[in-house]
Amino acid sequence: MPAVVSGIDASNIPAHVAIVMDGNGRWAQRRGLKRTEGHAAGEEALFDTVNGGLDLGLRWMTVYAFSTENWRRPLDEVRFLMNFNESLLLRRRDELNDLGVRIRFIGRRTGRVPGRLRRRIEEAEDLTRANRRMTLTFAFNYGGRAELVDAVRAIGAEVRAGRLDPAKINDKTIARHLYAPDMPDPDLLVRTSGEYRVSNYLLWESAYSEFVFTDVLWPDFRREHLFDAVREFQRRNRRFGAIE
Ligand code: IPE
Ligand code: IPE
Ligand code: MG
Repeated sequence: MPAVVSGIDASNIPAHVAIVMDGNGRWAQRRGLKRTEGHAAGEEALFDTVNGGLDLGLRWMTVYAFSTENWRRPLDEVRFLMNFNESLLLRRRDELNDLGVRIRFIGRRTGRVPGRLRRRIEEAEDLTRANRRMTLTFAFNYGGRAELVDAVRAIGAEVRAGRLDPAKINDKTIARHLYAPDMPDPDLLVRTSGEYRVSNYLLWESAYSEFVFTDVLWPDFRREHLFDAVREFQRRNRRFGAIE
């Protein structure tokens, strides 16, 4: 049973909240720490936020963990992030499983993603496959453009094989070829650290998402900040292009 959270209308909880977990490096630098210590500190933020999502009865949460552009960072930071995500999955998968969370990954699994991490991803997905309380999706080696490129390639192959009439391609065709076709579009997209951009996140899926930006740096983010974002979401008037 979802907990009652003050000021939040339980009948209008977003089905899907997507988060850009940003500001780890700045959080660390402000404390005279290495950037990587900021990533490590982001783990507590993530787990508190997931538990807050469970309190609300949130069914889908998607977090941006590594973008297709993050390979441009120094090799030691990239390496840290690969190892960190691998160890996080190992250390936390049972806890997430016990909470009824289904773990999923969207993004390109090929290329530079280390084989060991790829195996941990598959194991975590297999372990939690039957869970239905919440789907926690990690966008990892994810780019919205890469996702659309991959969709276009798959659609092209179907056309070429004579299985799809190009004149019949519509938005449902494209949505069906995204990394997680069963995932609802995010109702609410939160970005931390005072940056006001999408940075190649969920480009197709966020067409009608409500955006909430906060100056809080990701390692300081807690479930109360998620509740604040949901309260803000509930004050918005979604029109989807129509009028009242
Ligand atoms: C977000 O924090 C985490 C990743 C991109 C992996 P950053 O590392 O981007 O932190 P800032 O934005 O440099 O402070
Ligand atoms: C977006 O943050 C990617 C993740 C949070 C994983 P970045 O820090 O990479 O985005 P930019 O470079 O500031 O746009
Ligand atoms: Mg950043």
